[in-house]
Amino acid sequence: MMTLPWNHIATLLVLPWLLEYSMVISQTDTGNALNDMLEIYRRGQAQLDLENLDESQDLLAKYDFIVVGAGTAGCALAARLSENPRWRVLLLEAGGPENYAMDIPIVAHLLQLGEINWKYRTEPSNSYCLAMNDNRCNWPRGKVMGGSSVLNYMMYTRGNRRDYDRWEALGNPGWSFKDVLPYFKKYEGSSVPDAEEDYVGRNGPVKVSYVNWRSRIAEAFVDAAQQDGLKYRDYNGRIQNGVAFLHTTTRNSTRWSSNRAYLYPLKGKRRNLHVRKNALVTKVLIDPQTKTAYGIMVQTEGRMQKILARREVIVSAGAINTPQLLMLSGVGPAKHLREVGIKPVADLAVGYNLQDHTAPAVTFTTNATSLKFEDFSDPTLINRFNRMEGPYGSPGGCEAIAFWDLDHERDEDGWPDIELFLVGGSMSSNPAISRAFGLKKVIYDTLFAEIEDKSLNAFMIFPMILRPKSRGRIMLKSSDPFKYPLIHANYFAHPYDVDISVRGLLKAISLMEQRGMQAINAQLWEKKIPTCKQHPYKSWAYWACYVRHFTFTIYHYSGTAKMGPKSDRAAVVDHRLRVHGIKNLRVADASIMPEIMSGHPNGPVFMIAEKAADMIKQDHGFIQ
Ligand SMILES: Cc1cc2nc3c(=O)[nH]c(=O)nc-3n(C[C@H](O)[C@H](O)[C@H](O)COP(=O)(O)OP(=O)(O)OC[C@H]3O[C@@H](n4cnc5c(N)ncnc54)[C@H](O)[C@@H]3O)c2cc1C
Ligand SMILES: *[C@@H]1O[C@H](CO)[C@@H](O)[C@H](O)[C@H]1NC(C)=O
Ligand SMILES: *[C@@H]1O[C@H](CO)[C@@H](O)[C@H](O)[C@H]1NC(C)=O
Repeated sequence: MMTLPWNHIATLLVLPWLLEYSMVISQTDTGNALNDMLEIYRRGQAQLDLENLDESQDLLAKYDFIVVGAGTAGCALAARLSENPRWRVLLLEAGGPENYAMDIPIVAHLLQLGEINWKYRTEPSNSYCLAMNDNRCNWPRGKVMGGSSVLNYMMYTRGNRRDYDRWEALGNPGWSFKDVLPYFKKYEGSSVPDAEEDYVGRNGPVKVSYVNWRSRIAEAFVDAAQQDGLKYRDYNGRIQNGVAFLHTTTRNSTRWSSNRAYLYPLKGKRRNLHVRKNALVTKVLIDPQTKTAYGIMVQTEGRMQKILARREVIVSAGAINTPQLLMLSGVGPAKHLREVGIKPVADLAVGYNLQDHTAPAVTFTTNATSLKFEDFSDPTLINRFNRMEGPYGSPGGCEAIAFWDLDHERDEDGWPDIELFLVGGSMSSNPAISRAFGLKKVIYDTLFAEIEDKSLNAFMIFPMILRPKSRGRIMLKSSDPFKYPLIHANYFAHPYDVDISVRGLLKAISLMEQRGMQAINAQLWEKKIPTCKQHPYKSWAYWACYVRHFTFTIYHYSGTAKMGPKSDRAAVVDHRLRVHGIKNLRVADASIMPEIMSGHPNGPVFMIAEKAADMIKQDHGFIQ
């Protein structure tokens, strides 16, 4: 598949980048430092841009299909639709190229500080994100070829079979687990040796594997979860509840983004697929009389262009930008659109139903060795990366994962409500981490600064709520497509979400009583949040306060263009992902999830894209 010995090339190129980066990271402004590094890197290595599909060609005036956004879904869709040589397909991406520096799994945190992140922030709140600057959580999103699959932590999960059965029960025929399983298998190229053969795909474009390297801490976590009663298993197989070392969207210590998976192999081979980077789509053109989408407006190469779509426009701009673009195009809540001066074309609940997963990370100390900043700047990197040893293949330090159904702990095949995942380092392992989350200085200083002491080893467990009941909303701030939309995360609006977060956190703490954790002398890092001091330490009220402070997003924004039948007033697209009431316009990305699935969504979004591509092919009479 690949002709370049990219693994070695990448090593050689990335080494100076990392070393130089490690020298500047200790300065205060880590964000600018990273930008500078990425810039230096990019200028020197532009020729190594991963995709560069037919970039030289002029854009046509008209395509059969226009796909907006080259993220997880967009790259997969563009690749699949252009399998029909008669269709001309255009893929438009607001961001720039993906490069080899972004490939190294361990540097995942750093990427958020650079320009490949849209850098969204939630609106301020008095009941969540209290530990973050201005009480606003950072909501990173990929702005690059590959979208958020280039920024993400590569944790690979499918969720629970009941998630999809539920989607179908909500009025979406064709989305039950039985129906979507073939699409999971189609994109998966798993080399996980103990994956259950009936459930796994081995030959698909998206590589999935275990990481070569394992820390002693991750082993202790896996032991302790088993001592707590979970089985070690393929959590992407028949039963999800269980514990395992993480399956990751990596291969050979390399990030497997959607761009790498779907577009890189097409380089020089797909004349009918055009890709444009640095191309921001500002509007979908819809005829107000016939209610038919017929093209887009795009800002690229310093000017605004109109490009027409003969068959369809497919919006895959992600759960924040998709609702924004739909609303800018007149598709959204009519009253809200009028308020910002946009003439409504279809009155639909766009932007509502926003869901996310949060996890109030808990810190523990240990006598085992944890990830330290030195690991990112070790001069022996070159050898270690070549041999794919050391923590370089570890996705930002995430190493192991476990699922519990806390409401039915005895049900081996339950529908989990809590996931715990282990990170073999702490908030102080690298200054990029607290910076990425936007932690208040006073919080960092009181809780984590001490761990910078080289003799202290610490790790974190993130108790992630899987099925939140709160719903947020994306709204337009203005009709200007260059202005960011408003993000009302609305975390913890429903009391269940606080409750289950505290229960998950207590489950994480209770694991320290297990032999596995005692063997590494793991102990809760007992530092109190100053602004929770009114509650007795470790009381339920204290932990509820803790949860409202450490509202760490796990970046799973979804649901803002909900799939559902016309009778569902909250639905935006139907079960074939067609926007209700508008012809030739579909949405295919994380926005369509009626309810967020119980896991990390990158895989499920690939599934959505694969299924969308098949439905579009069927609707346009292309049967392979
Ligand atoms: C920091 C981070 C960590 C994560 N970790 C994990 C993880 O470990 N495991 C996991 O499963 N999931 C993870 N996720 C979530 C997962 O990556 C996303 O759910 C998934 O990538 C969403 O895919 P998408 O296609 O919906 O959107 P995206 O991948 O975000 O793609 C949208 C694309 O559209 C482009 N775009 C937007 N607006 C426009 C416009 N107007 N014109 C042109 N282009 C536009 C964007 O630049 C972007 O490239 C993480 C996400 C982040 C941000
Ligand atoms: C991983 O590396 C091995 C050894 O270099 C190579 O044979 C294999 O093709 C690589 N895998 C992928 C998916 O590139
Ligand atoms: C860590 O502490 C545990 C429990 O006290 C002890 O059994 C173990 O030997 C220690 N390990 C190391 C590497 O010091």
